[in-house]
Amino acid sequence: MSDKALEQKVRDALQNVSLPGGAPLASYAGLSDIIVTTNAVAFAITIAPGLEASFAAVKEAAEEEIAKVAGDKKVMISITSDRQQAQKAQNTAQPRQPGPPPKEPVKGVENIIAIASGKGGVGKSTTSVNFALALQAQGQKVAILDADIYGPSMPKLLGIEGKPAMRDDGIFTPNEAYGMKVMSIGSMLEGDQAVVWRGPMATSALRQLVRETDWGEIDTLVIDLPPGTGDVHISLVQTVPLTGAIVVSTPQDFALIDAKKAIDMFKRTNVPILGIVENMSYFLCPSCGERSDIFGTGGAEEAAKQVGVKFLGGIPLHMDIRERSDAGTPIVATAPESDEAKAYLNVAEAIN
Ligand SMILES: Nc1ncnc2c1ncn2[C@@H]1O[C@H](COP(=O)(O)OP(=O)(O)OP(=O)(O)O)[C@@H](O)[C@H]1O
Ligand SMILES: [Mg+2]
Repeated sequence: MSDKALEQKVRDALQNVSLPGGAPLASYAGLSDIIVTTNAVAFAITIAPGLEASFAAVKEAAEEEIAKVAGDKKVMISITSDRQQAQKAQNTAQPRQPGPPPKEPVKGVENIIAIASGKGGVGKSTTSVNFALALQAQGQKVAILDADIYGPSMPKLLGIEGKPAMRDDGIFTPNEAYGMKVMSIGSMLEGDQAVVWRGPMATSALRQLVRETDWGEIDTLVIDLPPGTGDVHISLVQTVPLTGAIVVSTPQDFALIDAKKAIDMFKRTNVPILGIVENMSYFLCPSCGERSDIFGTGGAEEAAKQVGVKFLGGIPLHMDIRERSDAGTPIVATAPESDEAKAYLNVAEAIN
């Protein structure tokens, strides 16, 4: 079955799912586009805050109905509570028109670039921080949002302590580090609570961090996403106007297979892919400066060609990158003249 045909089948199946008021979910205005990927069928439902419990049954019923038509694809439904969007949905007398629901711009933010990876541990957070700093070195005003609910790392990478302040009107005032505004989902978690931040809680928290933070006037907000493709990604691409996404991969084949899955998700959700970065691309010997391609190199460049996206450059595997990351003193900020920092600056150049 083609993706389009399956999408229609899913929409038809949603006719059989009733909202709390009795109307079918298929014509609910808070329903996002239905996304069909190689492995999954996914969509988001935007609801008013406080209605999470009553929509749990809707979600369950929708999962059941879709499972009947989706074959072996995973069904991923994310429920996001959003006061403004939900009110709009309620005020819309007409059933929603085909096409994605309008995405409100984020106040004060010109561009939003998401950094993604197919799998964990490929250096996505390290790349996010240094890429953001590289944009800043180009003269941009930059902010960074750590959206990795499974392993938030910005507080450590940027040496930030404490929670962001909240104004009387409930808007966050972000922390600042190296001239960048920084918000981390980590600052909203206690200890090892991260694992329970799934589904509606995580996606609503992310929406809140994006929309209810005083970013000031910035050129680019860089978002460090969780690894892979899940609820958070689906909810983000449905509710935030992304300028584009960068996919980070290591050169090994198995990492590249996952990177292609992430690229596939962005393509299907109409998020422009700015390109692929190959991290730990080659080894720069700290004592002699000699380059060796210990993992093989060029894998990401080749993969980029195959899927028709731009290759943005390689970042060397270098002890200094790791040590400075661990110390909260990222290399682009603290050793901007080094070859390693220049690799990040080249990536920032390449997206323009
Ligand atoms: N180019 C590099 N050279 C040396 N070490 C690196 C490089 N890139 C990342 N690292 C190190 O590899 C580890 C993983 O990096 P990082 O935390 O950025 O990955 P991630 O993809 O964000 O991981 P996660 O999936 O856990 O969020 C860290 O210890 C980091 O310092
Ligand atoms: Mg990370």
